[in-house]
Amino acid sequence: MGAELVFYTSNRAKYEEARSVLGARGFPVRWQRRSLVEPQASTLEAVVRAKLRQVAAPPRGFALVEDSGLFVPSLGGFPGVYSSYVLKTLGLEGLLRALRGQRRNASFVAVVGLAGRGMLRLGRGEVRGSLAPTPRGRGGFGFDPVFIPEGHSQTFAQMGSEGKALLSHRTRALRGLIRFLETSSPPPRRTG
Ligand code: IMP
Repeated sequence: MGAELVFYTSNRAKYEEARSVLGARGFPVRWQRRSLVEPQASTLEAVVRAKLRQVAAPPRGFALVEDSGLFVPSLGGFPGVYSSYVLKTLGLEGLLRALRGQRRNASFVAVVGLAGRGMLRLGRGEVRGSLAPTPRGRGGFGFDPVFIPEGHSQTFAQMGSEGKALLSHRTRALRGLIRFLETSSPPPRRTG
């Protein structure tokens, strides 16, 4: 079994995604339900580094944090790092209104940070797609009802958590860290 990971997030769906990706590769993930302070910053990486400074790694493992956003090129990359604020204030309807008459392509980006054993690593994942004219589907959270990944016709919210986890920006960011985790895990203890 690999090093223990403690994921600090207030979002259960993010934790479930991380558990399924990393658990399948032998890395158990424990959920620490915490809302971390997000500084005003212009990149997801800066937010992740600030979140890592607020958490503690388990003795032989790593602390894990994440920040993500929806980037819409026709809106100059907005809402990007301000995604959660935009969702709270304008909501999906407000975002869709701002998009009327604009190109609808968009990307979800996630940056995941790991810290422990004196090391710090960031991983970035992106999934390209487009925004549906109206919300569809009951699953997922946040922008899932309007995001259609490239090459698909359903929104993330229509795909169910397993279908989404195969493609998601978070899964891609986490996969990028697996090689690092494999090489930095302690060798299994010898018995006998
Ligand atoms: P944060 O990383 O929790 O600050 O998330 C930024 C915003 O993007 C929040 O409003 C989330 O709901 C939204 N978001 C992040 N990842 C996803 C996703 O996988 N699906 C839908 N919305 C997401």
